[in-house]
Amino acid sequence: MRVSLEQAIAELKSGGVVAIPTETVYGLAADATNDSALKKIFEIKQRPADHPLIVHIGDMNQVSNWATTFPEVAVNLAKAFWPGPLTLVLPAQPHVSRVVRGDEATVALRVPNHPVALALLTHGGLSVAAPSANLFTQLSPTTAAHVEAGLGESIPVLDGGACNVGIESTIVSVSANGQWQLLRPGMISEDDIAEVATAHHQVSSAVSADAQQALPKVPGQHALHYSPRTPLLLFKDRQALIQEGEALQAAGLSCAAMLIGDSNDSELNCQSITLPNSPDKAAELLYSSLHHLDAMKVDRLLVELPPALPAWLAVLDRLSRAGYR
Ligand code: TXA
Ligand code: MG
Repeated sequence: MRVSLEQAIAELKSGGVVAIPTETVYGLAADATNDSALKKIFEIKQRPADHPLIVHIGDMNQVSNWATTFPEVAVNLAKAFWPGPLTLVLPAQPHVSRVVRGDEATVALRVPNHPVALALLTHGGLSVAAPSANLFTQLSPTTAAHVEAGLGESIPVLDGGACNVGIESTIVSVSANGQWQLLRPGMISEDDIAEVATAHHQVSSAVSADAQQALPKVPGQHALHYSPRTPLLLFKDRQALIQEGEALQAAGLSCAAMLIGDSNDSELNCQSITLPNSPDKAAELLYSSLHHLDAMKVDRLLVELPPALPAWLAVLDRLSRAGYR
């Protein structure tokens, strides 16, 4: 059910949930201060309660409402990348809902770079917790239609068009002493983060590998996440993918493929989508292409992996969680 901005704000203020657009993926939003509203997110998504949620705020001045400290490194990251696809995990104020925090001592904050989301947060005077608006472990939505296909027509959706980043935000935790750690790769790369973090603050540093082992594991990062319903196989090598297509056909099974780069796929015996050979453009189209292939209802999806280069890390991360090598 599509709703207007005013309807979405009213629904959120009265304790309802609304799917909202962001530049990364659509989020299933609820008032971040209303526990009974927040619990609806977990019910609808069938998400385990120990998976914390990201709180979306209208601007960086609101960080102090949620976090006990805003270390200089985090301030500089926020100045460099907000509004944008960066989530900062900071020590939480004690009043921050345990439902949002998933019982962690920290809270995840982000200012999304989407005009409709920003209008909702600023004009509505709201802060909303919003995980991706899909069922737990399934493909993230990048259009209003994806949300409805995954969660049903009765979910209120604020349509803001197709998401132009296309994959979930980069998550960085920053401790009170300014040490930072990448928790989830995204289109803002670890190098982008390091450049800002080290340029402004001599003593700040990435947490060393030794120290990392002592830190808690990232909650809510499952090995198989972001998956289509159709079993998905990953290939480093196009030739091996083509051979698998032939073997499946010989066994009477149907397939569809997602390739990267040139679309010289004449040898391929199944329908295919080719993603552009640019990490930004491929990320933007990644989930919509997987949704499209999934809707073909074939027996197997065959996916060509991009090269193992830093610029492709976030796309590789999502693909490796979507299928099997
Ligand atoms: O781009 C995005 O980040 C999208 C849009 C809607 O903003 N949201 C999103 O939410 O991807 P979700 O729920 O699918 O992923 C949130 C992840 C959690 O699974 C967890 O890994 C991390 O954020 N997270 C949230 N709060 C945290 C905390 N306090 N400490 C550590 N990690 C946290
Ligand atoms: Mg998600």
